[in-house]
Amino acid sequence: MDIVCRSIISALWVSYTIRKDSEIYVVLNGSPDPPKTLLFRAAELKKVTNDERSIAIWIKKVLSSPATKELKQIKDGIYLSSDSFQSLLKKLKGRPVYVFHETGTPIQQAKLEKDAVFVFGDHKGIPEKEEKFALRSGSRVSIGSESYLTSSVISVVHWILDSSGVV
Ligand SMILES: C[S@@+](CC[C@H](N)C(=O)[O-])C[C@H]1O[C@@H](n2cnc3c(N)ncnc32)[C@H](O)[C@@H]1O
Repeated sequence: MDIVCRSIISALWVSYTIRKDSEIYVVLNGSPDPPKTLLFRAAELKKVTNDERSIAIWIKKVLSSPATKELKQIKDGIYLSSDSFQSLLKKLKGRPVYVFHETGTPIQQAKLEKDAVFVFGDHKGIPEKEEKFALRSGSRVSIGSESYLTSSVISVVHWILDSSGVV
């Protein structure tokens, strides 16, 4: 849960405000009843603050609702579905996909595009089967050979996008 909460914070907030143009999907494969996909859409969030405890409480509340195939808004800006990683990616079809891995192509060589989907693993990395699926329509990119926290990699990606003026 820590890694999820930290990643949501890095994806959606800067120091004093929220990034209204960002959203993050979290695919959960743990029991009971996997898979579940959460979507946090920054522009629509209300009452959610950028601390891990608050995010964890909201996740728990949202997960107590039944998940359906269609994304359903459970709280302001927080959606839930029964999507797996692969069904989620199918729904996001058409957008450029970048899969983050330590051994990928240096991100400096990738021309990041608007509306891109960035895929990150948890402490165990991205499962091989899921990575293979994502790479059918995406490319593997790296910010170096060091293995960083997922939330740190998200911050680096934001920094690159912020400073390159892509979004
Ligand atoms: C802590 S790392 C996982 C490391 C895990 N030991 C593994 O074998 O993949 C969590 C995620 O952050 C991303 N990540 C970490 N370091 C990275 C790097 N140097 N370049 C690109 N992505 C990285 C990857 O998506 C990775 O799955």
